[in-house]
Amino acid sequence: MASVSSTHNQTVSAEIFARAREVMPSGYTRHLVVQKPNPTYADFGDGCWLTDVEGNRRIDWVNNFSSLIHGHNKREIIDVLATQAGRLMSAVLPTEWEVELAAILCERIPSIERVRFMNSGTEANQIAVKAARAYTGKPKVAKMEGGYHGQFDLLEASFQSNPANWGDARTPNATIYQAGHPQALLDLVTILPLNDIEATRTLLRAEADSLAAVILDPQRLQLGMVSPSRDYLEMLREETEKLGIVLIFDEVWSLRAGYHGFQGQLGITPDLTTMGKIIGGGIPVGGCGGQQKFMSVFEVDSGDPKIKHSGTFTANPMAMACGTTSMRLLTPEVFDRMAAQGERLREGLRAIRRDLGLKAQVLGEGSLSAMLPTELQMTNYRELAHAFATEVGPKLPILQQLLIDEDLLTMRGGFVGSTPMTDDDIDFTIAGARRAWTRFKEQVG
Ligand SMILES: Cc1ncc(COP(=O)(O)O)c(C=O)c1O
Repeated sequence: MASVSSTHNQTVSAEIFARAREVMPSGYTRHLVVQKPNPTYADFGDGCWLTDVEGNRRIDWVNNFSSLIHGHNKREIIDVLATQAGRLMSAVLPTEWEVELAAILCERIPSIERVRFMNSGTEANQIAVKAARAYTGKPKVAKMEGGYHGQFDLLEASFQSNPANWGDARTPNATIYQAGHPQALLDLVTILPLNDIEATRTLLRAEADSLAAVILDPQRLQLGMVSPSRDYLEMLREETEKLGIVLIFDEVWSLRAGYHGFQGQLGITPDLTTMGKIIGGGIPVGGCGGQQKFMSVFEVDSGDPKIKHSGTFTANPMAMACGTTSMRLLTPEVFDRMAAQGERLREGLRAIRRDLGLKAQVLGEGSLSAMLPTELQMTNYRELAHAFATEVGPKLPILQQLLIDEDLLTMRGGFVGSTPMTDDDIDFTIAGARRAWTRFKEQVG
């Protein structure tokens, strides 16, 4: 949970927050945005800039947790949204927009021959797990220690394991994330040690008879950009195929890596893919797709489907229209441009680290970058947790505030790019980051 204190004038936000505290637990409805003494309330966005209710304008490097790949108020998306809202917000009948968006995803994402829509990444993962269970007839799911897949409590197991409860590194315990997490759910989860090929292979083989699925984000484990190695992903692909376990890539975040998703860059194709964020063009959305044989659990042609899936707002036309427009705008050239800007930013951050002699590391690829105040190696969850507990965690709120003072809105050391950014915005960011890190070094060392 990010907790930063602000030096900016917070009068309007403080007044709103006082009212919020009367009607929401501690005044919040989203824990990730907790700030001391009060959150800064947003007013409006414009391109890659976000203005708060006090009138402060900052470059938005969070983009609502990466979902706003076109930044704010993209003309084409606003136009389609306004038109669609005026024509039909939602209805009992499907609309052509869902077919358009489905066609784009089937055409671009290697694993996807058929796709269904939901309203969030969390829901996409819930449905994917149900599909895998129905397809295999097996009950359990394997996930990475520390892996994040949204608010679905089954997949929250071991999200924040700690040295007191995580057990042996080669056979991690399934641990409770928060109060009320029942043991019965933990019994349905196998926790895998990211990047330990032999230990993971042994666990998968031992549990093959009960495992329906392995789920992971193929690009990164939490923030800090801890990535599965290529060898590890190849082993997962090979073993799951051999053992009759459905391999699910959670591409809710990583789909922004490229035109064909992260899997297209890897050249490794999962059985099911879950999506969200960018495929809604800024409107809540989720998607679950895969080869026809896995998606057949939803088919109704020969009677009842194995998995019944509906939902009041599923495939609502506003999300489908904005998502289709968002995806059409994301051509291969646009992805290349974002990757080049990401590299320009990382190059600038590396120069800052070098020039100031910082104990820091620059991470990331494509449109995702980060500079974290640690030199500790982070190749799995336990190393990440150690780095965050000892060095990164206590320092990040200070750094985040120094970046805010430079009109740079970031989250946990990370920079998430968007298409309206110009090279001038990148250079503005590098210059601001240099001043912020200079002060950080003076204050923190
Ligand atoms: C990898 C991953 N999976 C799932 C989710 C959950 O998506 P949502 O917040 O739309 O439920 C997120 C959200 O950040 C995510 O990063």
